[in-house]
Amino acid sequence: MLTVRNIHQVVRAPDLLRMKRAGDRIAMLTAYDFTMARHLDRAGVDVLLVGDSLGMVVLGQPNTLSVTLDMIAHHTAAVSRAVSRALVVADMPFLSCHVGVSEAVRGAGRLVSEAGAQAVKVEGGHQVLEVVQRLAEAGIPVMGHLGLTPQSIHQVGGFRKQARDSDEARKLLESAHALQAAGAFALVLEMIPDKVAADVTQSLEIPTIGIGAGPYCDGQVLVSHDAFGLYDEFTPRFVKRFAELGRQLQVAAEDYVREVRQGEFPVSGKKVLSGHYSD
Ligand code: KIV
Repeated sequence: MLTVRNIHQVVRAPDLLRMKRAGDRIAMLTAYDFTMARHLDRAGVDVLLVGDSLGMVVLGQPNTLSVTLDMIAHHTAAVSRAVSRALVVADMPFLSCHVGVSEAVRGAGRLVSEAGAQAVKVEGGHQVLEVVQRLAEAGIPVMGHLGLTPQSIHQVGGFRKQARDSDEARKLLESAHALQAAGAFALVLEMIPDKVAADVTQSLEIPTIGIGAGPYCDGQVLVSHDAFGLYDEFTPRFVKRFAELGRQLQVAAEDYVREVRQGEFPVSGKKVLSGHYSD
């Protein structure tokens, strides 16, 4: 039987549930632009998240709070144009779900109809249940996000582990079940103890996707700029560097600068790139 593991088969929101049931782990990464999204899609990443982390790793802001719906729409459109297989999920930015349910539905609708997202992600628990339910009723798949929710950074006091005592762990489990009941199709669990993530994962039908939440989730997500060494302002301890692209880029740029300054590039009268530049 063909499973969604097949690299050529497109991934849609219900496939994540099938993957959980089949024991296939879900690989999710962030993407913010056409070129990066194209490479990640070709690599077989199942889910591409246009996260509001773009505020930090693309725009150089100290946190995610200045990211707007227009920005997410702009970047989601670029990612959607690049992707032929992965599920494209767009983040609902700060306050977009709290001013009113109608405004949230209108905003999520724009990300789907104008920008080409196939799902949205909403941070928070009980305070966003009505929004999650209305979006699901409107046919917009919703991914929940519990644990460390960076849009509440001022309330929680920093990028630190959540649900560390049994009371907080119980509340998180309740919120996870409430989000599932409201219609969420998957749940990101960020920076919580491995054991809490394992308990949530086991007790939910919908898949969990962990970030700094240990190995027992149904899938994993990382910010691509962290995973591939492009962003070095701050690297969370749970991140694994799969490449050092920032360093490679700098070395390549230094080579370019040197060759231009020394007159080594461009080479006169020679074909430099096949089909592109020739005399
Ligand atoms: O914005 C983002 O990149 C995220 C991930 C960390 C899950 O929400």
